[in-house]
Amino acid sequence: MSETLLELVDITKSYRDGESNRTILNGVNLKIEKGEFVAIVGPSGSGKSTFLSIAGLLLTPDSGRILLDGNDVTKISGSRRTMIRRKSLGFIFQSHNLLPYLKTEDQLAIVQEKEASERIHIDDLLNELDIADCRGKFPSQMSGGEKQRAAIARAFINDPDIILADEPTASLDAERGRISVEMIRNEVKKRNKAAVMVTHDTRILDLTDRIYRIENGQLVCG
Ligand SMILES: Nc1ncnc2c1ncn2[C@@H]1O[C@H](COP(=O)(O)OP(=O)(O)OP(=O)(O)O)[C@@H](O)[C@H]1O
Ligand SMILES: [Mg+2]
Repeated sequence: MSETLLELVDITKSYRDGESNRTILNGVNLKIEKGEFVAIVGPSGSGKSTFLSIAGLLLTPDSGRILLDGNDVTKISGSRRTMIRRKSLGFIFQSHNLLPYLKTEDQLAIVQEKEASERIHIDDLLNELDIADCRGKFPSQMSGGEKQRAAIARAFINDPDIILADEPTASLDAERGRISVEMIRNEVKKRNKAAVMVTHDTRILDLTDRIYRIENGQLVCG
């Protein structure tokens, strides 16, 4: 049985640029196995967020295929696509995107799917991320690092197969950034899931298993 959780095959994407089309992704391939934590680096504007949005079923490629756990989800649209995204994928962004008027426990409870609550308990997750004491706090009462860890907890709450993180350390100092990425790594390894992280931060690359670079619209190793 295949251990591949996410596979992208020959993905292309262009954006309209005035009169012409500008190709951002030009035949990108990526295969991620269970338990892998992969980094994607590359200059600003090279297409990292575009790629992550395609992998996260937020953006449709012009061509190519996306397989989740062996199933081709490229052409699935509408509410089924949303359902797959909610069940199988977890997102972590540069800014935590927590809702200002909700306590941490409620940030998690409102996105938690019923079946997931049988597998993952909010208390366990907050303990693992070392923010148990933030359970009853609003974002305004938490530090930047705590807020980002609450956002990481939210990404993991439905026990997704794949975590997609776009510059998760960008708003944190070096130490807090490293702690957050260590937490992502620990959860991926513990739960035997996969994560793809886009980052500019070379100091945290040692926490990942493989590094890819976007170059001329393609993904290359190292
Ligand atoms: N919706 C859009 N319409 C047109 N052009 C876009 C759109 N989204 C992104 N682009 C362009 O595509 C290119 C790649 O954008 P993308 O956001 O993927 O880059 P990135 O590698 O994530 O950059 P950064 O490191 O700055 O976040 C950029 O030149 C951007 O201006
Ligand atoms: Mg980006």
